[in-house]
Amino acid sequence: MRRTNASTKPLMIFPRGMQAEPQAFDRVLSSMCTEPHPVAREAAERFLATNPGDPGTYPTISALEDDAIAILGEIAGLEEPAGYLASGGTEANIQAMRIARERADTDRPNVVMPESGHFSFRKAADLLEIELRIVPTDEDHRADLEAVRACVDDDTAAVVGVAGTTEYGRVDPIPELAEIAHEVGATCHVDAAWGGFVLPFTDYEWNFAHAPIDTMAIDPHKMGQAAVPAGGLLVRSSDLLDELAVDTPYLESTSQATLTGTRSGAGVASAVAAMEELWPGGYRTQYVRSQNNAEWLADALEKRGYEVVDPTLPLVAADVPRSTFDALRGRGWRISRTATGELRVVCMPHVTRKMLAAFVADLDRLEVRASVPVVADD
Ligand SMILES: Cc1ncc(COP(=O)(O)O)c(C=O)c1O
Repeated sequence: MRRTNASTKPLMIFPRGMQAEPQAFDRVLSSMCTEPHPVAREAAERFLATNPGDPGTYPTISALEDDAIAILGEIAGLEEPAGYLASGGTEANIQAMRIARERADTDRPNVVMPESGHFSFRKAADLLEIELRIVPTDEDHRADLEAVRACVDDDTAAVVGVAGTTEYGRVDPIPELAEIAHEVGATCHVDAAWGGFVLPFTDYEWNFAHAPIDTMAIDPHKMGQAAVPAGGLLVRSSDLLDELAVDTPYLESTSQATLTGTRSGAGVASAVAAMEELWPGGYRTQYVRSQNNAEWLADALEKRGYEVVDPTLPLVAADVPRSTFDALRGRGWRISRTATGELRVVCMPHVTRKMLAAFVADLDRLEVRASVPVVADD
């Protein structure tokens, strides 16, 4: 066996012998994560070595998780908050589908979801052996209610609505979807993984107070400015969580409803720190800033002749040609495309007007049709 002498030889963490640095956010325009707020970063570092998955051994972080759920509940209009902090929206969506499957009185469960739903539901369907029925969206990229109605049946375990879609930032008609779900005895799950921290400052009906929804994904590590990993699963009543619980013989606690066992105390602590610092005033200010940035970018793109999808939340999609898109990526811009090929820019907290102006200026250099001066005064 090859031995190394730890006292004389420095530990080589990175194989090429270099200290790797995390990349900067100054060209990141398509991520749904962001730089954590400074208080969230500090809390994450302090609680790095704690595990809320073992509350008997780590009671402090476990109590902080209760605080996190209490604030998330307030944000999402839930009177008696219940849920847990997951690794992200994917886990929260999988777990919500698991609850729905356990509740459904059928051995051939299906889930009905608009085509705008996140791909994590495909993973859920695969893992849980649920049939995923994908229905079209309307001309504004929102769930088509007639299509949903036509698709549900007695085997439907859940109807999914998205509050802040990944590609266009759209909010589905949640009260109507909840009604359709309950008519066939299914649960209604709302995926507000991205939208949950901006929607409280809009007029949309999206949360537990607006509609009789059953479960929700809402992620502090996206617009909530917490460190990764901090997703959130909320349930209307704690008996829904019981559907997930398994006995935990070797732990001091008796049962566990989470999907993973060991979990990140850093994520939990940073979520509490961010939400205590920012809810509601800081998040409101951020929403206004992000929304203004999205409208500024949409306007700048429209003036240059691109077709732009109206940014009803801080997310802009525009029909920039593939070659231009590739050239922008070549210049270091971290951008992505929708399934139908539009450029997609998410105005997360780290995205400034200056960044967007630099992006548009690069676009102008690449495209002959450009001739509009870039003015960024924020
Ligand atoms: C609406 C929505 N739901 C779920 C997810 C998945 O979240 P995560 O990547 O944290 O698992 C995303 C990711 O962007 C999302 O936009």
